[in-house]
Amino acid sequence: MEIRKANQTDAHAIYNVHIASIKHSCSGSYPKHSIDAWVASKSPDFYRNLNDSSVLIVAQEADHITGFGLLNLCDKSIESLYLDPMWLGRGIGRILLMEFEQIAIDYSIDTLKVSSTLNAIGFYHRMGYAGDKKKTHTLRSGAMLECVDMTKKVL
Ligand SMILES: CC(C)(COP(=O)(O)OP(=O)(O)OC[C@H]1O[C@@H](n2cnc3c(N)ncnc32)[C@H](O)[C@@H]1OP(=O)(O)O)[C@@H](O)C(=O)NCCC(=O)NCCS
Repeated sequence: MEIRKANQTDAHAIYNVHIASIKHSCSGSYPKHSIDAWVASKSPDFYRNLNDSSVLIVAQEADHITGFGLLNLCDKSIESLYLDPMWLGRGIGRILLMEFEQIAIDYSIDTLKVSSTLNAIGFYHRMGYAGDKKKTHTLRSGAMLECVDMTKKVL
């Protein structure tokens, strides 16, 4: 498996992973209307038009994108970490997260933040992230999603 920076031609595959992951992995933790609004708020163009403070990485197996993550260096936060549902539970989430932690260290970022989806809290706990403050995240569509703010000191 290869972990690499995403390029413009990955946008559609990343979008497909994001949609499949929300529908499969998040639907047990959010009502259907939230999942529908969340999916509708995504578009492939978003991944093509990121600014310089964004680091978009993908995990690739043969010619298939199995997962991706988006790190915001300015905000010192993990904005996205999503796996193709076919590839869950094989350590890819951990590898992507550890890659972000190494990038954070390289940029002298002391502490990483994440607004975890309700379904991923256990994963971030396992990876050393702490926090239980609930927050409502407003999507570009205006729909609201409940998340939990977590942090980890990486430096
Ligand atoms: C969260 C996610 C990225 C984890 O990816 P993954 O590749 O399945 O996780 P890993 O196999 O690397 O798991 C690493 C460890 O966390 C544990 N873990 C993974 N998901 C967990 C969960 N939901 N609850 C508790 N522990 C979990 C694993 O058992 C493993 O533990 P181990 O050290 O004992 O082996 C994946 O489930 C996902 O894409 N979820 C949907 C998208 C999402 O909500 N992302 C978060 C956005 S903020």
